[in-house]
Amino acid sequence: MNCKIAVIRGDGIGPEIVDATIGCLEAVAHRFGHTFKYAFPLMGGAAIDSTGVPLPQETIDECLNSDAVLLGAVGGPKWDNLATHLRPEKGLLNLRSALGLYANVRPAVLYEQLRGDSPLKPAITKKGINLVVVRELTGGIYFGPRGYRAGKYGQEAYDTEAYSKKEIERIAKVAFDVAMGRGKRVTSIDKANVLESSQLWRATVTKVAEQYPEIELSHMLVDNCAMQLVRDPSQFDVILCPNMFGDILSDEAAMITGSIGLLPSSSLGSTKLGLYEPIHGSAPDIAGTDTANPIATILAAAMMLSTSLELPKETAALEKAIKTILGKGYRTPDIYSTGNKKVSCSKMGELIALEVLNGK
Ligand code: IPM
Ligand code: MG
Repeated sequence: MNCKIAVIRGDGIGPEIVDATIGCLEAVAHRFGHTFKYAFPLMGGAAIDSTGVPLPQETIDECLNSDAVLLGAVGGPKWDNLATHLRPEKGLLNLRSALGLYANVRPAVLYEQLRGDSPLKPAITKKGINLVVVRELTGGIYFGPRGYRAGKYGQEAYDTEAYSKKEIERIAKVAFDVAMGRGKRVTSIDKANVLESSQLWRATVTKVAEQYPEIELSHMLVDNCAMQLVRDPSQFDVILCPNMFGDILSDEAAMITGSIGLLPSSSLGSTKLGLYEPIHGSAPDIAGTDTANPIATILAAAMMLSTSLELPKETAALEKAIKTILGKGYRTPDIYSTGNKKVSCSKMGELIALEVLNGK
């Protein structure tokens, strides 16, 4: 199979984790007889530095012209003082929008071997964590009307949370479909005791649930969910969220697993084209030191193999290689503890790639 993958290395540790991942993809290609062609369009800080804007049109075209997009991470202090519309993050937001990627799927899993790394007490983690946040990605306050205006106390800035029924319906369907493939429970998050948009959210999700009689749907206020995630995360299967609540809760969900460096995410729309990236950010403090954990990005590549490229055997081989290498005790510094073997970012990539080539 010939596939074209648009690879956005990004900023900070982005290039390091992406390069380690490409090594693994090449191992997959070699073992299974595929050809992966890569294009390297720019986005974020790297694009600002070389073109003046965070998302050049060329990058959008290159992505639309590919089978999948693999992204490292964008942003960093160097670009923090730019106007909102010129910041690296704006590149990512506009790319999601331009590619129509309205559904962000973020699994948070507590790995047995890393149980001790969770900041939660053992009494809580012993019940395990295995949930997926399904976050609406191209609507809500991130994209609503915004600006400056004269307010009661002088000039004020505003952003608007707005959702249409159509946007809520399509993301609810994604959450229900994901839940059908796992625990068949969906917790829909809102702030319906305060926000109008949340009331429409709740009513619409309830209506869509009628098409999924097997799913157990419950509604939870966002503040309660933030609390429940640390009180008893084992209660959750699929958490369905509007954009901003999903941004916040998915960070929390990732953190409580103690393995933010291991968690991938996919952003999907109504075609097979998806964008795959680690949940974590660009970690500018360790950029260039070859100490980042590439596994979240490698797992994102596995999600890409499975979802956009529809290569299930290859996905399984890559996931198995990661488990084997972790099982042999290899650890990047973020998940290292005494008794394990500490390796660099590039070494971790090489070990997993070799395991893919050798594994049968
Ligand atoms: C994320 C990030 C982005 C977001 C930023 C970088 C724009 O925090 O993917 O969660 O807020 O969506
Ligand atoms: Mg975020």
